[in-house]
Amino acid sequence: MTDIRKGLVGVVADETAISKVNPETNSLLYRGYPVQQLADTQPFEAVAHLLWHGELPDDAELAALRAAERAHRALAPEVRAVIDAQPVSAHPMDELRTAVSVLGAAATAGTDNVLEAVGTPEQNVERSVRLFAALPALVAYGQRRRRGLEPVEPRDDLDYPANLLWMTFGEEPHGTVVDALNRSLTLYAEHSFNASTFTARVIASTLSDLYSAVVGAIGALKGPLHGGANEAVMHVFDEIGDASRVGPWLDEALAEKRKIMGFGHRVYKRGDSRVPTMKRALDALVEHYGRPEVAELTETLEREFVDRKGIYPNLDYPSGPAYSLMGFDTVTFTPLFVAARVTGWTAHILEQQGSNALIRPLSEYVGPEERHVPGYTPD
Ligand code: SDX
Repeated sequence: MTDIRKGLVGVVADETAISKVNPETNSLLYRGYPVQQLADTQPFEAVAHLLWHGELPDDAELAALRAAERAHRALAPEVRAVIDAQPVSAHPMDELRTAVSVLGAAATAGTDNVLEAVGTPEQNVERSVRLFAALPALVAYGQRRRRGLEPVEPRDDLDYPANLLWMTFGEEPHGTVVDALNRSLTLYAEHSFNASTFTARVIASTLSDLYSAVVGAIGALKGPLHGGANEAVMHVFDEIGDASRVGPWLDEALAEKRKIMGFGHRVYKRGDSRVPTMKRALDALVEHYGRPEVAELTETLEREFVDRKGIYPNLDYPSGPAYSLMGFDTVTFTPLFVAARVTGWTAHILEQQGSNALIRPLSEYVGPEERHVPGYTPD
């Protein structure tokens, strides 16, 4: 009997030096550093540098990355035109997927030889920085377009998270909100061979270009079993309404055998290492906005679900209400995940390109035995 691991459960597909998820200790390291320490101390640009280059940046390296990122923040007119050609009700993840594809076509234009499209390592680091730089404008425009608002020009005096908030809301962001977003971007940045990262690595393994790999990763992240859960968890909270309704809502949901969004994880079975840090960020936002009922609802659902099923919340659970408090529309939550995870995806694409082997597993055939097309006679 062939040993089939459906969903590749427990399969170690390759080595990586980028991050280590340890379910035994509920810990997550980026290049050796605990993610909680990075979230508490580092600006997100420094985390991006760490993921790409393996070390935290010194002052000069951080300044250079910030300068490069700031130089490529504006929404490119050709990208805006393609987004505007989509229905206003298009999901922002679909817009984002399309926009990255347009950026890829522009960046690789003139490469008529498919063998050259993959680019050099230096080109791919530069492409990673440019994509990272382009994302806040795309996330912000996704939300503004739905609200019938013009895009806001980027601000050179603001760091990555503050500029993202500025471009979305057109208001000076409050320090508490910037801090919460910075932590969340760091927590979301990287998580080993999750489904979207593995998708990116599969595409990169064919020697396709970095943009194609990121487009595929965005498609994978959109699904509610993966990144789409941070949007889906908000629909759950909207459905429940307030903490007093959690019990009856759960009775019904569990009787219908529904999957409760924001809970469970393929790797962590005793809690997600990132949740406590994100919960602290959520608590700070609850206090800042004076919204205790949000904390009451999230804590009550978590307590009741963990009590009944022994299944713990994942990072998407506190992220959804945190993004909602910041003022993001529910459909903008997964694009925010993209703005963070683009760093991890591109780090993995660079790593895959650095020691490539085409990813091509086998399958066990279970269809009909060989048979013949009616009326077929061999020559
Ligand atoms: C992310 O991989 C990563 O690292 C991903 C991520 C990252 O940073 O990249 O961490 C980000 O994708 C987080 C996950 C977001 N998804 C959700 O919140 C969706 C809801 N959760 C699930 O459907 C589920 O927990 C998964 C998809 C996350 C994990 O699924 P698995 O490992 O395939 O486990 P499973 O679905 O086979 O569940 C095992 C058991 C089942 O019960 P039994 O059939 O054995 O009786 O646990 C139950 C499941 O029904 N279960 C749930 C549940 N999660 C698991 N039951 C109800 N609600 C849930 N959320």
